[in-house]
Amino acid sequence: MYILGIESSCDETAASIVKDGRQIVSNIVYSQVEEHGLYGGVVPEIASRRHIDAISEVVQKCFDDAHLTVDDLDAIACTFAPGLIGALLVGLNYAKGLSFASGKPLVPVHHLRGHIAALYLTYPDLKPPFLCLVASGGHSHIVAVDDYTKFRVIGRTIDDAAGEAFDKVSRTLGLGYPGGPAIAKAALTGDLSKYKLPTPHTENKYDVSFSGLKTAVINIYNTNNMKGEETDKNSLAAAFQEKISQILSDNLANAAKEFGYDKVAIAGGVSANKRLRELIVEKIGDRQFFAPTMDLCGDNGAMIAAQGYYEFIDGRTAGLELNGIASLAIDFD
Ligand code: KG4
Ligand code: ZN
Repeated sequence: MYILGIESSCDETAASIVKDGRQIVSNIVYSQVEEHGLYGGVVPEIASRRHIDAISEVVQKCFDDAHLTVDDLDAIACTFAPGLIGALLVGLNYAKGLSFASGKPLVPVHHLRGHIAALYLTYPDLKPPFLCLVASGGHSHIVAVDDYTKFRVIGRTIDDAAGEAFDKVSRTLGLGYPGGPAIAKAALTGDLSKYKLPTPHTENKYDVSFSGLKTAVINIYNTNNMKGEETDKNSLAAAFQEKISQILSDNLANAAKEFGYDKVAIAGGVSANKRLRELIVEKIGDRQFFAPTMDLCGDNGAMIAAQGYYEFIDGRTAGLELNGIASLAIDFD
């Protein structure tokens, strides 16, 4: 079964064709990060306009690479939530047009479910149930994946998402956008013992809070500036990456132990972080660890097509009245 997946919820315009939910046939990602980098973060209005510029070409290239046409598809999947609404609507309306013109079923896909499905592309034999940390620019969740289309949120951020914290700290330190890779690179030559950062507390032990941590980093930097002192940016980046990775890996490992999961996974843009991966592997002991290949951590169409396959065989199609939703829980129904 061939599914086309279209993704446009943030700053990547992406399309992919995936066979039987597991095998990538073609995968095109057009990233806008360079342009948003000029502003230190995603500018929603620019994102929408660039999606409009790129979407037709990206989908056409996806068909060309696959040597397939719309007639070969079994369904058209697209991200409908959550995300920047103007950005989401571009991919969604393109998918609706293609579905209307071809008569192929339209399958709405939740973006975070898509991130989790990137794991099915990386591990053809991986099946739920498993426990997954989904950490991206907009979300930081620990999710029990009970089945392909059944999810329970065990913990979430009560303020900033992990990726958002990376991006804001990077912006303050002048390290660039996206912040995750920039901080990770700076941290390589940093001295971990140089700066001490606070450990935030939350009422629910599996929730996280990164706003105070982010502010602590920004305060160190601003205070040094006011005193006319240099900040060792690489060491501050290292301390920040370490703290955030310790918090996320502790929570994931503890939840896996408490709820008895043998399989532990990560997904989303932040799952590309090597230190975070290292710490999770260290802390989960004998449990099996799953992480997407680097090219499938960030936003892409293949993850949407993969999840679209499971949503489709579960009968979750939509009509042309389908609208985009800026904010929607992963366990919606
Ligand atoms: O999943 P994603 O591509 O888009 C959203 O759905 O938000 O995630 C993007 C986020 C950005 O905040 C980016 O800084 C972060 O993922 N990220 C990383 C790394 N690579 C990307 N964070 C930490 N370490 C990385 N290596
Ligand atoms: Zn994402």
